[in-house]
Amino acid sequence: MGKALDGVRILDMTHVQSGPTCTQLLAWFGADVIKVERPGVGDISRSQLRDIPDVDSLYFTMLNHNKRSIALNTKGERGKEIFTELIRKCDVLAENFAPGALDRMGFTWERIQEINPRMIYASVKGFGPGPYVDCKVYENVAQCTGGAASTTGFDDGPPLVTSAQIGDSGTGLNLALGIVTALFQRERTGRGQRVTCAMQDGVLNLCRVKVRDQQRLKHGPLKEFPQYPNGKFGDAVPRAGNSSGGGQPGWVVKCAPGGPDDYAYVIIQPQGWEPLMKVIGREDLVDHPDWRTPADRLPKLDQCFAMVEEWTKTKTKFEVMEILNPLNVPCGPILSIKDLVEEPSLRQTGTVVEVDHPTRGSYLTVGNPIKLSDSPSEVKRSPLLGEHTDEILKQVIEYSDEEIAAAHEQGAV
Ligand code: COA
Repeated sequence: MGKALDGVRILDMTHVQSGPTCTQLLAWFGADVIKVERPGVGDISRSQLRDIPDVDSLYFTMLNHNKRSIALNTKGERGKEIFTELIRKCDVLAENFAPGALDRMGFTWERIQEINPRMIYASVKGFGPGPYVDCKVYENVAQCTGGAASTTGFDDGPPLVTSAQIGDSGTGLNLALGIVTALFQRERTGRGQRVTCAMQDGVLNLCRVKVRDQQRLKHGPLKEFPQYPNGKFGDAVPRAGNSSGGGQPGWVVKCAPGGPDDYAYVIIQPQGWEPLMKVIGREDLVDHPDWRTPADRLPKLDQCFAMVEEWTKTKTKFEVMEILNPLNVPCGPILSIKDLVEEPSLRQTGTVVEVDHPTRGSYLTVGNPIKLSDSPSEVKRSPLLGEHTDEILKQVIEYSDEEIAAAHEQGAV
């Protein structure tokens, strides 16, 4: 079966997490992704957080599936010539170096357009134009500068980062959409274009509801927040603990047997009040004048969830799910990563995949979260550093064996 992006060739200068997330996704959709890496070093993440000595880290292997690797020194003269040939033969150039790195190598957007006017040149940077445009950025810096950290955590604690990689992987997803959209436009115009995604923008985009709340604050307290009615609101959106960011109140409640992940999230929709009160044994509150409507309950959400918790503490998180879902009360168990990787249904859908690797052996990874009926994703192991160097020189830029040997001798590859 063909793949959605068959025939699209991507020159992948990405490293660490944000860029590789993007190009891995495109590779799963069938693009030929050629990862360009510094000879002898490669993507820095190959050697970061290693669990097995001298073996590509899980950090690297889990972000670079379905790609080919060419080890090419793009700073040397011969390497630049080869890189120029690759730009000519590819549809997309993706990178997420510190600002200006490709320019310093001589590959400005203007130069890239001269070499290949159909080229889509896609970049992730920490910030867009503005005071921080030249700064290097990692995940947590993006979370802190994009609005996520100041609004995450509890009111009496410091700002908190989330373990979901919304800055890196989140921005990588934006870049993938930008690339595919630019490819679509190129079908009509024949021209490539520049695609840029700033991590700060990506995080702020995911914090849209907090920008909503910032404006609501002008008109009074945020009544679904735990600070209401007894705490204080300042002039910026505060940390909301586990309260729901949507229109229906929710909270995390303890479950049996009381381990670190024995919790469930429970949401109280207006129509869920009656069945929820009945199941926890508080039928008396269903039509009680102090509790009946959502507005009655807003000033005492803490008491609502304390009552619910008295009941959930007698059930496991899975029992809570089993009992409340048929009653149309939205809820979810707090699943640990252990729970998730052991969940058979996630293995069946390819969301969690077991992959074999020549030096590491078998390991688990997270597969494509986007399922296309006509372009199923098959997860293939990540390449070893430079594994496909000669193959790419031969097949993509049609070098002879002599030219390949010369490139090796000159230290370009
Ligand atoms: N051949 C020769 N040189 C190469 C090369 C190759 N194949 N591939 C990369 N390099 C060079 C680059 O040209 C650059 O050199 P320069 O500094 O002389 O210009 C250098 O290797 C690596 O650049 P840099 O991006 O500065 O690496 P870093 O480790 O110092 O910084 C980041 C890492 C992630 C902080 C930075 O790349 C960044 O801010 N990226 C944008 C935001 C981003 O994506 N962050 C999230 C990462 S998950």
